[in-house]
Amino acid sequence: MDAFEYRNGRLYCEDVPADDLADRAGTPLYVYSRRTFELHYDRIAAAFAELDPLICYSIKCCANLHLLKLMVARGSGMDIVSGGELHRAMAAGVDPARIVYAGVGKTDPEIERGIAAGIGCFNIESEQEFENIDAIAARLGRTTHGALRVNPDVADPHTHAKTTTGAKETKFGVDIERARRFFHTYGRNENCRLDAIHLHIGSPIYSAEPYVRAINKAMTLIDELRSEGYTIDAIDLGGGYAADYETGRSPAYEAYAAAIVPLLRRRNLRVILEPGRTIAANAGILLTQVQYLKTGGSRTFAIVDTGMHHLIRPAMYDAFHFIWPTRAPGMVPPRRSAQMELQLPGAGLQTYDVVGPICETGDTLAKGRALPKLSRGDRLAIFTAGAYGMAMASNYNAFPRPAEVLVDGDRATLIRRRETYDDLIGPEMNPSPL
Ligand code: LLP
Repeated sequence: MDAFEYRNGRLYCEDVPADDLADRAGTPLYVYSRRTFELHYDRIAAAFAELDPLICYSIKCCANLHLLKLMVARGSGMDIVSGGELHRAMAAGVDPARIVYAGVGKTDPEIERGIAAGIGCFNIESEQEFENIDAIAARLGRTTHGALRVNPDVADPHTHAKTTTGAKETKFGVDIERARRFFHTYGRNENCRLDAIHLHIGSPIYSAEPYVRAINKAMTLIDELRSEGYTIDAIDLGGGYAADYETGRSPAYEAYAAAIVPLLRRRNLRVILEPGRTIAANAGILLTQVQYLKTGGSRTFAIVDTGMHHLIRPAMYDAFHFIWPTRAPGMVPPRRSAQMELQLPGAGLQTYDVVGPICETGDTLAKGRALPKLSRGDRLAIFTAGAYGMAMASNYNAFPRPAEVLVDGDRATLIRRRETYDDLIGPEMNPSPL
């Protein structure tokens, strides 16, 4: 379900050959498909339509201003996690009432900005944070809304340990028992009105089942709180819906909705969704160029001009990203599958470790991957790179970050210029006594 396809052995993004983009903008290059972004958003909205949810695109996964504007035009709200993301969201023109603000470490200036902007809701993670938001709202003479992030102690066994959040021992949210006490203590405060429950159980979650368990626990809590006279207006289900990294493992939005919608129908709750990855991941690829080929022991390395500094997911989460040359005449790209890593090279295929230029052994994008025979200068596309790709890119080893291009049909727009060497040292240019 994306707009990257091979036509006569050449990779296209919508109607533009990927190589044309690389010729014009260079590599490494993040390329996004407008159609894919919008399609994913529309499909989630359609799947959950019966609940008329507020969809708050989780901008941490891919926050280029121009992509955010596409989401705003679609009617999306935004899930943010910092003052910087608030700044991006506002710059994209989102209605602040459609912003939900999560995160365990919100600072006073960030909270002040959120309240001043009139955001819809703070997703609150601890007692001290609630007290601080309530006090700041009082000082500013404002009221704001809070959703208590409840940690329902469910986890998807397929989710990487580094991105599991719904289990008991994480820094996120409070457990159900503590949630009751939380409402007893703060549930009638005036400046920050605690009137919603927030869940986010991790990412990616490959089936509806963990959501069902979490929602059932949350609904029991909501029923209890309501019977005690507390007003609960909304439930925020968080994000975490999977993306199709490996064929066949990610259910369609309809599969999540079929299990989730019946639990929330006629419950008199506004439903909020915070999808990120599932919208952006397959809407973006990272184009890179092979610099050198080298053997080492039994391995052959394809050394490319990008790596863990631009796409950290393989190094950080052992994540699988399908990789294939932008041009492979006569070769049909195999179905995307993690199993490919286990296959012996077939006709015309060789096994490569695709590695970057960073001075770390962990700078490996793919290990033992069967690919058409590569030469210096060949370009590779790293697929499903739209989410947590550029968003997690760094300047490690003083490499400028890639440019970003948005394709719309047969048109392409440079939506972020390539960083320069001067960008790297700019903030260090005017030292001042402190
Ligand atoms: N809501 C909250 C409160 C979150 O913490 C997150 C993601 C989302 C929504 C969006 O989750 P999504 O729909 O994108 O899965 N860097 C990791 C993923 C970290 C997710 C952090 N929180 C990765 O590359 O897999």
